[in-house]
Amino acid sequence: MSQAVTQGSPSLALPPLSLYVHIPWCVQKCPYCDFNSHGKQGELPQEEYVDDLLKDLDADLGYVQGRKLHSIFIGGGTPSLFDASAIGRLLDGVKQRIPFEADIEITMEANPGTLEHDDFSAYRSAGVTRLSVGVQSFSKDKLNLLGRIHGKDEATRAAELAKAAGYQSFNLDLMHGLPNQSFEEAMADIDTAASLNPPHLSWYQLTIEPNTLFHSRPPQLPDDEDLWRIYEQGQKKLAALGYEQYEISAYAKPGFQCRHNLNYWQFGDYLGIGCGAHGKLTLATENRIVRTVKIKHPKGYLGASDFMFECSEVAEEDRPLEYLMNRLRLMSPIPKSEFEARTGISADTIAGGMQCAAERGLIENSDSHWTLTPKGHMFVNDLLSQFL
Ligand SMILES: C[S@@+](CC[C@H](N)C(=O)[O-])C[C@H]1O[C@@H](n2cnc3c(N)ncnc32)[C@H](O)[C@@H]1O
Ligand code: SF4
Repeated sequence: MSQAVTQGSPSLALPPLSLYVHIPWCVQKCPYCDFNSHGKQGELPQEEYVDDLLKDLDADLGYVQGRKLHSIFIGGGTPSLFDASAIGRLLDGVKQRIPFEADIEITMEANPGTLEHDDFSAYRSAGVTRLSVGVQSFSKDKLNLLGRIHGKDEATRAAELAKAAGYQSFNLDLMHGLPNQSFEEAMADIDTAASLNPPHLSWYQLTIEPNTLFHSRPPQLPDDEDLWRIYEQGQKKLAALGYEQYEISAYAKPGFQCRHNLNYWQFGDYLGIGCGAHGKLTLATENRIVRTVKIKHPKGYLGASDFMFECSEVAEEDRPLEYLMNRLRLMSPIPKSEFEARTGISADTIAGGMQCAAERGLIENSDSHWTLTPKGHMFVNDLLSQFL
């Protein structure tokens, strides 16, 4: 297929459509977490919330424009606090409203501390095809410092159960740069994770976010030199273990990249339903891109007559930067034809900025693609500043 850049004015094309579903409850709030999640008090209103999610989706159906669903991601919070029957009812309801692509990927996040809640094979029977397990570390001491509700053994068991339950794929979330973490401890976590043979690993550096307990009472983190060594050697270790880095924090065995996240980073479309969920939708015939945000707090969301908190336009002049902020997270070359189809803007518009970046050794520029150089990967913010 030709990757040629459009002659004349390109037009917006409808990209693949994904669905993000937010479940906003956890057993308790972790001290580093700034996600929209709330420690649960008493029984969760599972039935009522699933009803509201489907009503929320009903109001967004105009954005579908004849597409099938490419992927679904049920995130949180801790979706594994919901029974498999509630997840099944949600997925059935979604399918009644929007047809699924034949090879749809349906991911659900699970916390190793909620294993007793419902077994992993029950979620698979409910329609989930991919599990993402929040392990974070296999060290007892680190899990304690992170305020996790599970220990080392539950982390290992969750990974083993995810494997045994026969999902098409599963992911383990690991964090590094943890309080008082030595280089050896960080490497040991990667080795233990890899020994469980997950097809996908997310390896995040712990960041201290505003409005978290760690922000008001900062823990002792490894110094910059150690953080860099952990990052550099960790990347090499993951590569040697057969995990290819395809995004800043995402590593996968060949063929196991996360379709849902790839669609985000390629500036694809996604509906967002549930508390505080974000959506990004293209209205190709109107040459518009909109962003949606739903009511954030469960108290306001549950039983609402209208779940939309905000719906805003992505102005044409902001599209190149928005596209690049997402797309530059990925390691793969950027087809200029993709830029044009997703933004509706000619690649020539950003040719000047890209030329400057090429002269500074941040990208390589061919007729059909822009490719970040290793230096470009290290200075992405610098590159983005060309387009502010
Ligand atoms: C919404 S949470 C996922 C699932 C589930 N709630 C759990 O924690 O097990 C997504 C992932 O983001 C990562 N994460 C959360 N807060 C982070 C932070 N401050 N710095 C780095 N990674 C973070 C964790 O690896 C976490 O598993
Ligand atoms: S369990 Fe996950 S979403 Fe919940 S508070 Fe902890 S890190 Fe955040």
